[in-house]
Amino acid sequence: MKLMEWNGIKLMKVLVFIMAIAMMMVLVGCGSNEGTDDSSDTDSYLAITEPTFAPFDTTDEDGNCIGFDMDLMDAIGEDQGFTVEYKALEFDALIPALETGQADMITAGMNAMDPARQAKVDFSQTYYDSGLVVLVNDDNETINGIEDLTADMKVASQIGTTGADEVLELYEEGSIEEAVILNGFNTAVLQLQNGDIDAIIIDLPVANDFIKKQPGKLKTVGEVLNAESYGFAVQKGDEELLDKINTGLNNVIDNGTYDELYTKWFEN
Ligand code: ARG
Repeated sequence: MKLMEWNGIKLMKVLVFIMAIAMMMVLVGCGSNEGTDDSSDTDSYLAITEPTFAPFDTTDEDGNCIGFDMDLMDAIGEDQGFTVEYKALEFDALIPALETGQADMITAGMNAMDPARQAKVDFSQTYYDSGLVVLVNDDNETINGIEDLTADMKVASQIGTTGADEVLELYEEGSIEEAVILNGFNTAVLQLQNGDIDAIIIDLPVANDFIKKQPGKLKTVGEVLNAESYGFAVQKGDEELLDKINTGLNNVIDNGTYDELYTKWFEN
């Protein structure tokens, strides 16, 4: 009897501990930019992102999520009378988190043209046309495009992204030695600079942003591989929020705010 009781207490303690850890792991990373008080009658939404994707999604010194995506969504919210709080997750966790109601929207430079994603979430109108590109060290003389990747090379991308799909495809067809699928693009860049990997497949504007900020280290090679367009995602069937986002997006495009934010994040 005593033993069973003790086991029970021990089990409870273990369960409480596991729950605490699980709760800590759910939403980590950037804190809120906006503060969470919704004392007014303004709607407040929770947006999730993955912040190793500058200039769309990154963090400031205090760990807040900042970037073109956040500024654009804040402008849409201002236009439509809602505020947004941003939290960071790993990229492959974004859609599952939205599907299970842990967030209201995804603001993460996410390709909206992907049918597998469209089956799980609803996308806003697209707000940025993009594409994938091969990124290598600036002094690399062998890789001048995707056709130069060979069966002895390691190529990286971020987990759950369109770039990772591309890298896995190259691996499956035997064109490269290893598909290195990493949690963050920052890690991929470090591995490239260390010489652990030969190339990264990444979104062109993100590659260009890195090259602009740290000139002379990396370069993009070859043609743009796949065209894609980014949209904001909401839960399937959340027409109310989707309407607000689409209306607000059109308004901020019409009133010049979109262009201002574009200049701020892409032309400075
Ligand atoms: N555009 C790519 C995709 O949709 C990569 C997006 C990565 N975004 C991020 N916040 N890390 O899969």
